[in-house]
Amino acid sequence: VSSARGLSRALAPLVVVVGSGGVGKTTLAAAFALGSADEGLETLVMTFDPSLRLKDTLGVGEAARDAEVEVAGAPRLSASLLDARRTFDRLIERYAPGEAARRRILENRYYAHLAGGLAGILEYMAVERLFEVAKSGRYARIILDTPPTRQALDFLEAPDRIVSFLNSGVLKLALRPWFDSTGHFRPPRGLGPLRAGFERLLDETVGLELLREMNEFFQAFAPLYGGFEERAGEVRELLRSPRTLFVLVAGPGEEKVPDALFFARRLEESGHHLGSVIVNRVHPRASGALPAVGAMIDPLDGRALIARLGELDQRGLESLASLLGPARSPVAVPLLPREPNDLSSLRSLAQELERRL
Ligand SMILES: Nc1ncnc2c1ncn2[C@@H]1O[C@H](COP(=O)(O)OP(=O)(O)OP(=O)(O)O)[C@@H](O)[C@H]1O
Ligand SMILES: [Mg+2]
Repeated sequence: VSSARGLSRALAPLVVVVGSGGVGKTTLAAAFALGSADEGLETLVMTFDPSLRLKDTLGVGEAARDAEVEVAGAPRLSASLLDARRTFDRLIERYAPGEAARRRILENRYYAHLAGGLAGILEYMAVERLFEVAKSGRYARIILDTPPTRQALDFLEAPDRIVSFLNSGVLKLALRPWFDSTGHFRPPRGLGPLRAGFERLLDETVGLELLREMNEFFQAFAPLYGGFEERAGEVRELLRSPRTLFVLVAGPGEEKVPDALFFARRLEESGHHLGSVIVNRVHPRASGALPAVGAMIDPLDGRALIARLGELDQRGLESLASLLGPARSPVAVPLLPREPNDLSSLRSLAQELERRL
């Protein structure tokens, strides 16, 4: 099948779909994965989709939160939904030295807070889980969707950030034995008469109970730390391997160009391999006479508006193309009349991608 070569040429064993929020990462990751499975490769799409729209699109159900689930109607395609909290729990289970240590961490209230909310955890968990599955060798191709990030590059820096967080003074401070063996607060030596006041201040500001839980957590976490640091290093390597290709998705329009450019440069500067650059949801180019640039448009004239949008998107594409250079011209994917929300519309999108890549 000649069209099948198109997709494979643009993909690697590992594909990471990146881009700013809402540009279509999840949708395109699913389309790539479906196309790849249709080509005959055992493929897994790992998505980060808090809205869980894709779960419905692929019809995989809740089970995909815990494991890779085969997609009915698409042989050789599996999907999983990434869940930071669950991945974190699994990690703790793997590295904790014993059942008691494991329980001590998982039941800790501070852990519940940390695993749910620490900046970067979500991003880190995506790569962590990718690593786990990649190592298993079960799939010929894995497509990783990435979470919406405030800063688009949070994701790539996540492994480094976790390590530096673990290395930071915060951890040392947290590991200080703040409580004695009977669970009573033990303030730093040398406070003298200020001692009682210090304890009260801490209780009023941080809350002794929370401090106790935090301290407990980090004490319990300490033996795991070695495993984490090593793992973060391996994950870093995997992301920079030539077998891992990044597909950058950008929104249409000239105003999105600096974003995409910045992203492309940062990826390459940091030693990652950038594959295709896709500009998604491009408005169609109008045929026939266009309204003059600068002319007032009647807001009720839909055709004129679409034509103007098409024109703007075309300019965005051209300027991105000239800035990226001839070796990497962006691929335009049109705005579809309907949101691709079932297998057959994702298939059409995959075919569209094949034609254009
Ligand atoms: N080419 C397209 N034509 C029409 N609709 C599209 C197209 N691509 C994506 N969409 C729609 O745009 C919306 C956003 O897409 P999607 O959820 O894939 O973006 P995302 O980058 O994953 O967002 P987030 O950063 O929030 O995770 C969805 O409703 C999706 O169905
Ligand atoms: Mg998404």
